[in-house]
Amino acid sequence: MSKSIYDTLNTIIRINGCNARMIRKQYLRSVGKPMFRETGELSMPAEIQDNGLREILRRYPTGVTIVTALLDGKPWGGTMNSFTSVSLDPPLVAIFVMEKGRTTTAINQTKKFVVNILKFNQEKEAKQFASDNVPDKFLDVPYRESSNGIPIIEGSLGYIECDLYEATKVSDHIMFLGKVTRSEVTMDEEALIFYRRAFRSFTGTA
Ligand SMILES: Cc1cc2nc3c(=O)[nH]c(=O)nc-3n(C[C@H](O)[C@H](O)[C@H](O)COP(=O)(O)O)c2cc1C
Repeated sequence: MSKSIYDTLNTIIRINGCNARMIRKQYLRSVGKPMFRETGELSMPAEIQDNGLREILRRYPTGVTIVTALLDGKPWGGTMNSFTSVSLDPPLVAIFVMEKGRTTTAINQTKKFVVNILKFNQEKEAKQFASDNVPDKFLDVPYRESSNGIPIIEGSLGYIECDLYEATKVSDHIMFLGKVTRSEVTMDEEALIFYRRAFRSFTGTA
């Protein structure tokens, strides 16, 4: 159902006071998806609401990183694919992290973070650091400490140590710009890829 049909339905209900429950029943019978929020108000399914944005974004492959920092003095980290390089002079990189997440708290506390670039076989680590329910994010994940005491995850392709350069609130995320203080490629291997909601690795050359 197109967005304009939703708009029209909304208008009809607003003007004529139609029975929203009846329309919901008919809609569910035809497409089997909820059209109303629990309040009974009309709401659009996500794929219509975001105008296909999610679908196209899923088709954009990214690498996968674990961003580490210290939270209350202890190692912390979160899986992030919103990592990008910004400039070489000065050497700046950026990540976009959920404002309410603990990785944000950790970065704000220490004003330092490390971006660990994951290797193709580190899917387990990526999932572990993306989970909110693990008691210890570093369980069975070996790491060493950077000069600032931030965890550098063993087995990753390389890492980028950063001092916080700028933090900007962007919607419900914080854009952290990091000034690179040290970076190293630790092994010449293929990267872990996130594409169409799945972890993948390169299978060939273009
Ligand atoms: C492939 C992948 C990429 C992710 N990228 C981001 C990201 O760029 N920014 C973000 O805030 N969360 C991202 N997440 C979700 C976080 O990893 C997840 O919320 C994690 O628990 C961090 O929460 P915490 O900061 O409270 O530890 C990603 C998750 C996955 C699986």
